[in-house]
Amino acid sequence: MGHSDLREFLADLGDDLRHVTQPFDPRFEIAAALRSLPPDGPALLFERIVGYPGARVAGNLIANRTRLARALGTTPEALTRTWIEKKQTAFAPVSLRGRAPVQEVVHASPASVLDHLPVLTHHALDGAPFLTSGVVLCTDPASGQRGMGIHRMMIQGGRRLGILLANPPLSRFHAAAESAGRPLDVAIALGVEPALLLAAVVKSGPLGPDKMAVAGGLRGAPVELVQATSVDVAVPARAEIVIEGRVLPGVRAPEGPFGENTGCYFSNVSPVVEVSAITHRDNFIYPGLCPWSGDVDMLLSLAAGTELLGQLQGLVGGVVDLELLPGTAGFSAVIAVHGCPSTEVRRLLMLALNLDRRLKSVTVVDDDIDLRDAREVGWAMATRFQPDRDTVIVPRTEGYVIDPSSAGGEGSKIGFDATRGAGPEFDKITLEPAALRKARAVLEELLS
Ligand SMILES: Cc1cc2nc3c(=O)[nH]c(=O)nc-3n(C[C@H](O)[C@H](O)[C@H](O)COP(=O)(O)O)c2cc1C
Repeated sequence: MGHSDLREFLADLGDDLRHVTQPFDPRFEIAAALRSLPPDGPALLFERIVGYPGARVAGNLIANRTRLARALGTTPEALTRTWIEKKQTAFAPVSLRGRAPVQEVVHASPASVLDHLPVLTHHALDGAPFLTSGVVLCTDPASGQRGMGIHRMMIQGGRRLGILLANPPLSRFHAAAESAGRPLDVAIALGVEPALLLAAVVKSGPLGPDKMAVAGGLRGAPVELVQATSVDVAVPARAEIVIEGRVLPGVRAPEGPFGENTGCYFSNVSPVVEVSAITHRDNFIYPGLCPWSGDVDMLLSLAAGTELLGQLQGLVGGVVDLELLPGTAGFSAVIAVHGCPSTEVRRLLMLALNLDRRLKSVTVVDDDIDLRDAREVGWAMATRFQPDRDTVIVPRTEGYVIDPSSAGGEGSKIGFDATRGAGPEFDKITLEPAALRKARAVLEELLS
């Protein structure tokens, strides 16, 4: 069985979690530390937060495939298969009996969010502290369907939060409530186990499964829910923190600038949440998810990339693997194929580019290329690709709001067929096997 909450996951990390005992300021300092870690760096738990005695902040939690695999109880090699298997097993959530850990401390009608929570300010030009890993939950008043997704939120002062609602289903539920002149009850769960965070950003579509049941499948046990204290929303009982409130109808406010998952600052005029309560565990752990970081790459790699891989494998024969390019906010992908004729590669490119709204560029390579190695993908593009022959362009598509080059208006998409031709001139150069064996043995000893 997986981890039932964030604390269980942290305990499971052992030496791969380092405790930071020096005081760190939530304004700039924690983000600077998290973003300065190398790609294989450990998870960090900051134990002394300036201005917030008793609070802790954790970050870099799933920033590489090893920790991501651990979050799903598997190995990096078996990650894709495990994800696909676990996603097919849904466990509907259950109601917790007894007192919920997340309601150990309740602040009813708090005057200010920042009085209670060390919300991080991440980047030099950010307009305010931003919540970056809040799992926003709500129930559609019309259909009763649960809404669940990560949405960035700006602390606008006092008890007001600006919320970016660029994606369904929350954007849809809010629009429906607003057109009826009603507020939308929401609850924002912070500090949940990785399986729940991953489930929150899975593409589900209007008729997709309940993401809370998907989270249950990924954890191997149902998520325990409890009723929020001031709004009509069920929340994870073992989260570290829950912020409760309402998205106000007809209200908009400037939100940003904020250094986004694209690595660029993005400002918007966004809906506003008025907070009605904050509940949390004793000595809570605030989740410090940095935008444009390994954590975001890994979330997208599974929840968007592996999802798309599964869809494409059902549509085109010979699709072996897919990875989203780190640092591109899921806008760029590489797909590996085996024995796929060029007409099928073109069909694959068109399908991939159209299935995922976010994807802007896709490169298809053969499976002799390691698609997680930029040098190998670059080599395939350099030696197997001809621009006039091997490019597919899809003009005039819907742009993506946080992509500054389409500015939320019109965009376009591009596909590259970097698969090889039939002749031996496309083969990779190789080393003589006996010489290679000797060299490896000597070097292993020399470098150990
Ligand atoms: C790290 C991260 C941050 C995100 N921030 C936002 C956001 O601020 N606003 C938004 O509308 N979507 C955001 N998303 C995307 C939504 O959470 C996601 O598209 C949505 O849950 C997909 O749900 P659906 O397929 O059920 O429609 C973010 C995703 C990730 C991985």
